[in-house]
Amino acid sequence: MTDKRIETPQAIRGTQDIFGAEAEAFAHVVETFERIRRLYRFRRVEMPVFEKTAVFSRSLGETTDVVSKEMYSFEDRGGESLTLRPEFTAGLTRAFLTNGWQQHAPLKLATHGPLFRYERPQKGRYRQFHQINAEIIGAAEPQADVELLVMADQLLRELGIADGVTLQLNTLGDGESRENWRRALVEYFGDHRAELSEDSQDRLERNPLRILDSKDRRDRAFVADAPQIDAFLSGEAQEFFAAVTEGLDAAGVAWERAGSLVRGLDYYRHTAFEFVTDRLGAQGTVLGGGRYDGLVEALGGPATPAVGWAAGIERLAMLVGERGEPSADVAVVPMGAAAEAAAAGIVADLRRAGLTVDMAFKGNMKKRMSRANDSGARHAVILGEEELAAGEATVKTLSTGDQARVPLTGLLPVLKG
Ligand code: HAM
Repeated sequence: MTDKRIETPQAIRGTQDIFGAEAEAFAHVVETFERIRRLYRFRRVEMPVFEKTAVFSRSLGETTDVVSKEMYSFEDRGGESLTLRPEFTAGLTRAFLTNGWQQHAPLKLATHGPLFRYERPQKGRYRQFHQINAEIIGAAEPQADVELLVMADQLLRELGIADGVTLQLNTLGDGESRENWRRALVEYFGDHRAELSEDSQDRLERNPLRILDSKDRRDRAFVADAPQIDAFLSGEAQEFFAAVTEGLDAAGVAWERAGSLVRGLDYYRHTAFEFVTDRLGAQGTVLGGGRYDGLVEALGGPATPAVGWAAGIERLAMLVGERGEPSADVAVVPMGAAAEAAAAGIVADLRRAGLTVDMAFKGNMKKRMSRANDSGARHAVILGEEELAAGEATVKTLSTGDQARVPLTGLLPVLKG
């Protein structure tokens, strides 16, 4: 006979199947975010996973890595170009406009879910990853920036990972400051053109600010002495930045000035920030964001200021570390067909009363008891034919081995006690 084994398809490169203790850490990050966004009164929003390609290409900047190299774009069956979202902000801005959410401005929004970027996978960098994301749309005041940063700081503290994570803060100034800085950078890097990496020679034409973000050794030497934004900030931009830093100081949030921080997306104005750590190797940015006052207009809406951030759930979960899966309160162990049928009702009642319950229904008695022990439950409820006939169960305290017969009607107080 020929071997007709079917080959199992492999998972897509850069995707992850997250399970067990890692999945618990992931869930813990999301639950903590959900709790905190309620404290700060951010409203929950659910977003589509794909949008028309223009939503992203017009928002993030044609020359950014995300748009030029990393988007999962495809034509649907109707011939329309669609893209799996590489980030939330552009889609949220589109939703703000198409749903007429201007009436709610300033609108505080929170969401989380999967995103897609065709990047080179490595530790902490995936092609499908997940973010928690918070935005305030329709607020020009520096208090909005402060609120978001204090919220991010509280999230990291409550996750127990604030130590070793630093807030790096910069301002990119208003449009005019940014343009003057851009011109100075073109001049400065232009003088060293031949010595720059090929990528940065290209960036010099297309997007000179991005050279500051280059990891290439040939560029780093020049980045250190490049003109900094401060020399180009308008009075208004300086005042705005001062108000943000004063707010952070008042709230007790530590920050560091990072004069060459530019971020990977083009929509930022004024405040730009990243929370970074050296505990994750090369992918040390856990949370990033800033102000994007021009984006609503770029998508065809009225001038609307906005600010926000996103954090990679996988990166936060790695810092949190593996979390044990919670134990059951009770393990129910039925033996025999009649007991198994009755157990379905007992288990349902216990769960409805709020107890976490495992049912051991596979194998012989020894296997079932060992499964009950593994569940970490305090009590096992053993149901045999004989117990059942008497309307009782045997309740065994697994840590001591003590056991007692308990009427089925009186199980709950014993198990809850
Ligand atoms: P971003 O810096 O592109 O910003 O991403 C934010 C965070 O998402 C990163 O700091 C990182 O933790 C995580 N992340 C990004 N790419 C990957 C990846 N390939 N694998 C794993 N984690 C990743 C934004 O997305 C902006 N939309 C943030 C924002 C919101 N700005 C204003 N509002």
